[in-house]
Amino acid sequence: MQSALKSGMRTLCEDVSESDTGKKFTFKGWVMHYRDHGGLIFIDLRDYSGVLQVVFDENIHNESFKTAKKLKNEYVVSISGTVRKRPDGTENAGLKTGRLELLAESAQILNACETLPFQIDEETEVNEFTRLKYRYLDLRSKRLKDNIIFRSKFTYLIREFLNNKGFFDIETPFLTKSTPEGSRDFLVPSRLSGGHFFALPQSPQLFKQILMVSGFERYYQIVRCFRDEDLRADRQPEFTQLDMEMSFVETGDVIAVAEELFSLIFHKLLGIKLDVPFKTLDYDEAMDKFGSDKPDTRFGLFLSNLTDIFANSTLNVFRDNILKGGVIKAVCLPGGASLLSRKDIDGLMAVIKDFGGKGLAWTKVAENNLLEGGVSKFITAEERTALIERLEAKSGDIIFYQADSKKTADGVLGRLRLYLAKKFNLISDDRFDFLWVVNFPLFEYSEEEKKLVSVHHPFTLPSETGLDLLEKSPLSVKSDSYDLVFNGEEIGGGSIRIHDPKLQAKIFDILSISPEDAKLKFGFLLDALSFGAPPHGGIAFGIDRVLMLLRNESSIRDVIAFPKTQKGYCPLSDAPSAVKDAQLKELGIKLREKPDKK
Ligand code: AMO
Ligand code: AMP
Repeated sequence: MQSALKSGMRTLCEDVSESDTGKKFTFKGWVMHYRDHGGLIFIDLRDYSGVLQVVFDENIHNESFKTAKKLKNEYVVSISGTVRKRPDGTENAGLKTGRLELLAESAQILNACETLPFQIDEETEVNEFTRLKYRYLDLRSKRLKDNIIFRSKFTYLIREFLNNKGFFDIETPFLTKSTPEGSRDFLVPSRLSGGHFFALPQSPQLFKQILMVSGFERYYQIVRCFRDEDLRADRQPEFTQLDMEMSFVETGDVIAVAEELFSLIFHKLLGIKLDVPFKTLDYDEAMDKFGSDKPDTRFGLFLSNLTDIFANSTLNVFRDNILKGGVIKAVCLPGGASLLSRKDIDGLMAVIKDFGGKGLAWTKVAENNLLEGGVSKFITAEERTALIERLEAKSGDIIFYQADSKKTADGVLGRLRLYLAKKFNLISDDRFDFLWVVNFPLFEYSEEEKKLVSVHHPFTLPSETGLDLLEKSPLSVKSDSYDLVFNGEEIGGGSIRIHDPKLQAKIFDILSISPEDAKLKFGFLLDALSFGAPPHGGIAFGIDRVLMLLRNESSIRDVIAFPKTQKGYCPLSDAPSAVKDAQLKELGIKLREKPDKK
């Protein structure tokens, strides 16, 4: 701990050590625990560095004892006294200062504290709304405080690393135009341009590309992004990216900088040496084998394609599906027969429906490569031998099958794979599996919009081999893009960009964005590209997600000082809230409906 405050006014709790016994210091902080033992009062004093036990002794320093009598939890105090060793047998091994205590000589109450809505640092069941309403109290807890201080060290390291590599930290506007990250925009009405709106940026994508056109060559920003989407444990409406862009680079250059950065962070903050280069997996292989574009590679349970084996299946669901052009895929759970009862297997049906599956065919593997239970009576000896070999299944395993379109079967089994791994503790939690997923398709078909959409965003460069196929067979074209996955969570994504305005116009055309629409939405980028744009590319990392994983938290809310609830609401400040009619009038806005009751 930094000792800057040790001399003079105040010492930090965790700055004292055994060599300080017998010396006098002043500490300032909060009363964390209070215990009245008659003639002796003990408090645990907390400041941002940690905790120190303080003793008030009626017989030694009566004035300070009288002050101590008035203390309650979370009172703010200034206490001066002498540091001493705790008597033998009263040490607290759980505290860094557990062998020491302060004998208080004088004490001053700097501020009082109301009755607390919940006890700080106690893992009691307090609903999250209350915790967020009194976020300043929850942030006093060791876990959250450590998370936020870790976050500060983390962003400091990033800045230091990138500044040393010649990157410039450049801010981009928050009041801007809609950007194409594919989510809904947050809009801000403009008073000066009546009836017009700014959109808060979903990312600085367009501006960072323009900075490359301006010749900065290496840009970064630790920046807030805004996306109005359905929230989950790993999503917030405003979240923070480490956003980067570089000129005259190829995929390998961007990947190398990212690997160097993560190696440094892991080494400096966690003392862990990462294996670089990270592994790389093609998007197609990720989908085939893991049923996900962000595979968790910390355990097996790979997906297998059995369509050829079941080409002549007597099981209707299999045969009909293959005739429709679908696939049969399977996952084998080793030792599943003793892990899952018949009732458990029936229970999985509901889970599968939640994942978007139509049903769940299964078989157990018995001795001598026989199958039993489930759909086993529809499987011929020939099919059985082939599938057991392909799945490397053993006696006692359970095999789960999906008959559906490849996309659905992969998706459902990918989620079942994760579900089984979590349920049966198959994921080793001491692994740090980084993985680049590359060669994503450039486009995908959106059932919702009934048109092609970009898998990343419309400025992603098609891979060179696909340029000829852009018009004829756009869905087969891959892109020069890369996602970084860490323990099954997508923590970053980026690409090499299109710098040729003609190619950019062609991509808009394939995406059914008319030239007028493209001009309206992205005209300023298109113009910029036509004024000598260098080849460029970049990436953005989700800082909150990385921190959530590094701190072993299950929600990004726990690494953000002031997060929102799952409904995008801030109980602390009561935002969003209704505004005065006069404010709306000034903006030329009339509400179509009365504001919802909260
Ligand atoms: P992308 O949309 O993939 O790329 O975002 C980059 C990373 O940001 C994180 N992330 C989120 N974190 C918390 N809450 C959210 N709602 C949320 N949405 C995304 C993810 C993701 O990998 N402009 C491009 C980057 C580029 O091409 O350079 C972009 O924003 O970890
Ligand atoms: P059925 O022929 O409808 O009685 O289904 C036989 C078995 O196949 C049942 O266990 C169903 O849950 C399962 N099933 C149904 N549809 C599918 C599907 N699309 N993929 C995998 N299994 C399925």
